[in-house]
Amino acid sequence: MHEIIQQTGGLCRIALPEVMPVSDRHFLSQFYTVDKQSNWQLRLSEADIYCLTEKTTQLSLRPDFRQSHYRHRQQYPAKEPLLKAVKIRQKLPKTVIDATPGVLKDSLMLAGRGIRVIAIERHPLLYVMIKRALTHVNTNIRYYFGDAKDLLADFQAEIIYLDPMYPPRRKSAQVKKEMQILHRLVGADDDADRLFDIARQQHTRLVVKRPSHAKPLGGIAPTFSSSANKRGATRFDIYLP
Ligand SMILES: C[S@@+](CC[C@H](N)C(=O)[O-])C[C@H]1O[C@@H](n2cnc3c(N)ncnc32)[C@H](O)[C@@H]1O
Repeated sequence: MHEIIQQTGGLCRIALPEVMPVSDRHFLSQFYTVDKQSNWQLRLSEADIYCLTEKTTQLSLRPDFRQSHYRHRQQYPAKEPLLKAVKIRQKLPKTVIDATPGVLKDSLMLAGRGIRVIAIERHPLLYVMIKRALTHVNTNIRYYFGDAKDLLADFQAEIIYLDPMYPPRRKSAQVKKEMQILHRLVGADDDADRLFDIARQQHTRLVVKRPSHAKPLGGIAPTFSSSANKRGATRFDIYLP
């Protein structure tokens, strides 16, 4: 059994780099036990980017938003079904709250189109890694740590966007490596229905990304849906206030 870091910061172990910003070390040690023998190793690269490796699987996560892997979606916006899904009367919104930002790919794409993005991430380790990656790029993203269930009411936007973690797929070989480690790191977002309920209470248009076979969040049928990609593997459920 591999250890999984709990999304809400339960007791778990992590090996931290010898040299790292004191504020990050201090922040992480509130959530994790620092242990050189841990299966999870965090490093800080020469490029000033955090790299997390799970030793047993050799899976790693290295969010560097300067790399083409992350810039790709910003360069080809015409192919972006999420842009279509967030449009209100054919126009892009000015502000979107991303209440499940993850590795921030969707947020970066939206911000790349001039949308102000407020992103709220609750996973402490992911938060620290992404925050560092953000220091190397110019974006319109305000990035916060916390549970969106508690913080949503503090912000205003035209759209709230939810993309909770899908249940792990059986054909795991088909899941990209980055997604595999994200799954192992974050686990399942079992409270996604509750987040959905709270998001609905904000009286804001809601856009939810779902696997095409999955029921709508909260079992509540959306106002309408749009297909998220040509293969039809995912869809966006849109709820009007
Ligand atoms: C599937 S990932 C999102 C991927 C993201 N759309 C992207 O483009 O990278 C889901 C993320 O939402 C976060 N999350 C889930 N529920 C949350 C909540 N209530 N508050 C804040 N973050 C949450 C998880 O920790 C995880 O990082």
